[in-house]
Amino acid sequence: MTGVPAAAVPRHIAIVMDGNGRWAKARHQPRSFGHNAGRKAVREAVESCLREGVQALTLFAFSSENWQRPQDEVGALMNLFVRALDKEVDELHGYGVRLRFVGDLSAFDEPLRRRMQSAMARTADNDKLQLNVAVNYGGRWDIVQASRQAATAVARGELQPDQIDEARLGQWMSLADAPPLDLFIRTGGETRISNFLLWQAAYAEFYFTDTLWPDFDQACLRGAIEDYARRERRYGRTGEQVAATTVQVS
Ligand code: FPP
Repeated sequence: MTGVPAAAVPRHIAIVMDGNGRWAKARHQPRSFGHNAGRKAVREAVESCLREGVQALTLFAFSSENWQRPQDEVGALMNLFVRALDKEVDELHGYGVRLRFVGDLSAFDEPLRRRMQSAMARTADNDKLQLNVAVNYGGRWDIVQASRQAATAVARGELQPDQIDEARLGQWMSLADAPPLDLFIRTGGETRISNFLLWQAAYAEFYFTDTLWPDFDQACLRGAIEDYARRERRYGRTGEQVAATTVQVS
């Protein structure tokens, strides 16, 4: 446990799991070896979030841009997802995890899509942790698909254009029913968002670490949560205003 008061634990954590390839290369292994090791780190992150009382964890498993990787790596990643789905869903369900895939799922082949849909349906009523796995996801794609839904509602006469505001558009974003994104973590030493949760990250705190994803264990996540809990979130207000309305964690 972190010892962080429950109120200061991030409600929603998103992670760009970067560094699998370099981790494998350092061991003279193929990149798929690193992705496999990354799967173990996913387990650790899920277990930590359950223990700490985090409500939602969103993982960037495959971006819209990842299709450009060598075909054998894309194939290995797809196999890994299938194997992970076959092996882990029972346990996730037992833990009370609600599993959801976010992104343009239409690009995946039918058997994989069916597995994803059935895992989502099976775990839909669980409420211990919402685990969102972003696949063929891009933050810009998400904003575009939400805008399309808004345009469709206008075209049907269900909505006036001036009724579209942030709250309304937000209802059509992929993670509309997740708690606000509090903590955005990227492993592997790069300090960029890479088209992950652009809309949702508006007020997130960012945490960048050089640790490669397969090495990002429970102690690392604990460190990130503790770092987050020490920060003052002002949402545009002054520090004095914040101090008057919230309990500070030192
Ligand atoms: C980025 O590292 C990682 C990915 C593109 C794949 C992430 C996938 C997993 C961790 C597999 C397990 C996930 C689930 C949900 C079962 P990289 O390959 O870009 O690393 P590099 O920057 O060192 O090359």
